[in-house]
Amino acid sequence: MKKLLLIILAAMSISAASAVEIWHLGAENNVLRLNADKNYVLLPVQDNAPEAAVYVVCDNKAGEKVQVRMARESIDYYVPYDLAEYKGKNISLYIAPVPDGMICWSNIKLSDSFEPLPCKFRPEGRFSPYYGWMNDPNGMIYHKGEYHLFYQHNPYGCTWGNMTWGHAVSKNLKDWEHLPDAIYGDAWGSIFSGNCVQKNDTLFAFYTSAGARQTQSMAYSTDGGRSFTKYEHNPVLVSNEPDFRDPKVIWYEPDSAWIMVLAAGQKMNFYKSQNLRQWEYLSSFGEGYGNHGGVWECPDLLSFGKGKNQKWVLICNINPGGPAGGSATQYFVGSFDGKTFTCDSKAETTKWMDYGKDHYAAVSFTDAPDGRNILLAWMNNWQYAAVSPTTHYRSSNTLPRDLQLFSYKGEQYVSALPSAEVASLPHYELDIKAAKNSKATAEIKLSNSEGEYVTLTYDFANRTVSMDRSHSGITGFSADFPVATTAPMLNDSNRQTLLLYVSASSVEAFGTTWCMTNTVYPQSPYDKISYKVSDNSVKIEYKLTQNQ
Ligand code: FRU
Repeated sequence: MKKLLLIILAAMSISAASAVEIWHLGAENNVLRLNADKNYVLLPVQDNAPEAAVYVVCDNKAGEKVQVRMARESIDYYVPYDLAEYKGKNISLYIAPVPDGMICWSNIKLSDSFEPLPCKFRPEGRFSPYYGWMNDPNGMIYHKGEYHLFYQHNPYGCTWGNMTWGHAVSKNLKDWEHLPDAIYGDAWGSIFSGNCVQKNDTLFAFYTSAGARQTQSMAYSTDGGRSFTKYEHNPVLVSNEPDFRDPKVIWYEPDSAWIMVLAAGQKMNFYKSQNLRQWEYLSSFGEGYGNHGGVWECPDLLSFGKGKNQKWVLICNINPGGPAGGSATQYFVGSFDGKTFTCDSKAETTKWMDYGKDHYAAVSFTDAPDGRNILLAWMNNWQYAAVSPTTHYRSSNTLPRDLQLFSYKGEQYVSALPSAEVASLPHYELDIKAAKNSKATAEIKLSNSEGEYVTLTYDFANRTVSMDRSHSGITGFSADFPVATTAPMLNDSNRQTLLLYVSASSVEAFGTTWCMTNTVYPQSPYDKISYKVSDNSVKIEYKLTQNQ
């Protein structure tokens, strides 16, 4: 028997990395044998390598399967595979398909600690994941004095996959504390976008289970979001529509009922519930309305004002189809009677929340203090998010923004300004005054000593503002990146105020009636501002407001 085992082992080619024994079983199947006496196995990743399935086998039973782009020719970074659940046990890690002889095999490590590589593009005061890929903000809620931010996270790489709800908390919307991931994939699928509501101190998370079909599931937490228990009768809502996702649940006071809005193909569906478990279909909105250049995703339903002045805003993120190409956030202003959303505008009217290229999956915080509508967006675009040049993490969020309604030419629009909590971050304040009937242009330039720059151009003949990032720094990773984006001024004033919030990798520009968010990757931060005007019918004044 012993002899037979030795022969089998010899036929299998074995290699060893520190305390990890590696068996290559042929046909690109591999097994790591190790004792889980450390906190993590660090797996070497190469972003452009194919995915391999990785799962633990312990006591002959398989654990959850995740996909990891195991490094083949070169190592981009490491990801931690958490061993806490198996502490002290002898376990195997099955990894396939990855051929024998690849670089990962001699670099797998056991470790008690993990730290991501530094990256000069990490923006301060804006949220980015500790490591790994991030897309949509999820489950945002103000609960027991803390703002919770969950997010679409890949804990095993810097490209999309293994969708899990990452988690962070903040007391001031500016300084975020990273917490362990909150909700992991299960037999119903990986965990797509959704939101949280609260009742009697319990947090209820609603999310899409993305398996063979998209269904809606629920999980709850009684310890301030630190741990979640999945409802045992998931899913709570099913459909035969293939794109059926991103639930947003709100409390609808007049009917003492919960309302869920979710994206179903090219429309938003509304449901009602008394108990958060059984959901009754109410209505759909969207056919023929607004922009349909892509899939409708990540809805939100916000209330503004009270009594007869109350208005409802239905947010509808869309990808592609945005005003500058790719992903963007459109919205509809109208009324909601507990059953149906009715849009105030003509069907062909499209309104954009932000005119830049990097504002997507924008949703608001549930139960924000003082009835505020605080919006947060993923600061990236599906056109190039997977190749944006950051190290060991991908994507950050925009600054949180407080929303207000305003009227212009018979239409109501939403304006967005940085929330008071982040307004003290360093920024430029500009006052641009044009003479009556001026047809001038005014160009504001942010630049660094490497000759990289971003320009903002006010065109008073066409009443538009454009931001051009063609020379902003690293731009070559996607043909969709080095472009200019344009916003209409949406006011008739000769005096335009501009707030420019600039981070190591973003420029967020706020007029009073429009905003525009674009990511940038300069070799060094822009440390200079200058301007020029086409004639003296325009005057510009500016000041830099540093951290207060
Ligand atoms: C939007 C989206 C959502 C989905 C999630 C998956 O960016 O496609 O519709 O829930 O991302 O990560």
